Amino acid sequence: MELDGLDLNRLPQHVAIIMDGNGRWAKLRGKSRIEGHRRGKTSVRAIVEMSRKIGIRYLSLYAFSTENWFRPREEVHALMGLLEHYLVVEQAKMMRYGIRLLAVGDRERLPGRVRRALEQTIAQTRDNQRMTVILALSYSGRDDIVRMARHLAREARAGRLDPEAIDEDSVSGQLDTAGVPDPDLLIRTSGELRISNFFLWQIAYSELYVTPTLWPDFREREYLAALAEYQQRRRRFGRTDEQLDQTLLHSVQASGSKS
Ligand code: FPP
Repeated sequence: MELDGLDLNRLPQHVAIIMDGNGRWAKLRGKSRIEGHRRGKTSVRAIVEMSRKIGIRYLSLYAFSTENWFRPREEVHALMGLLEHYLVVEQAKMMRYGIRLLAVGDRERLPGRVRRALEQTIAQTRDNQRMTVILALSYSGRDDIVRMARHLAREARAGRLDPEAIDEDSVSGQLDTAGVPDPDLLIRTSGELRISNFFLWQIAYSELYVTPTLWPDFREREYLAALAEYQQRRRRFGRTDEQLDQTLLHSVQASGSKS
């Protein structure tokens, strides 16, 4: 099936998004930053909905970083309120559409009401299989890596883990994203060319897409354009074009010989 030039059979399995520009969107309109976040929530709904419709399997959203705790109290409070409201209101839709919710980050720092809403939604949606939405809340990539390192070190000290046996899978398996495939595509809105402490280990081979569009204006059309651009990229994973051509040729020959 094709949609706006998009090949729905070659979608990224996992899309991760750094949702940036809510504050600038509001400032440009003489509105409060909180109003920008409110509009940003509408974009979240639109992108989750579109992802589900076209068949994206995993969608990660960087909703609140560990650094965001340093924002003014009222802004943090408002963001927490929006998150809680989102979780409460969207739960029924997640159940209807088979969406599983996961969270990455330091949940202990979240206010009780948000944590309870989060845990309740995660528990309620745990068996849903159509799509997984991963909310990064009080998350930072470095903090994820530090917590993983502490865990492996403790296991080694207790004699349950041979340090020489640590490999990439042992590391991936102890990050908050354990069991989730690495993002194929990382989108950042509002034009900044930074990763801002989002997934660090996980984006080793992700394709990057940066758009100047501010997050509250990032809606279906923009999203489909990002996915279409992704489909133009050739992912080489460190190999040469010629090696990829050979691999492709072999797989075509192998499937031809089977049929
Ligand atoms: C960045 O804009 C955005 C955030 C810090 C928060 C993202 C939150 C939402 C989109 C709303 C609620 C989320 C969910 C999942 C319901 P910014 O404030 O850094 O913008 P600026 O760089 O222009 O100041």
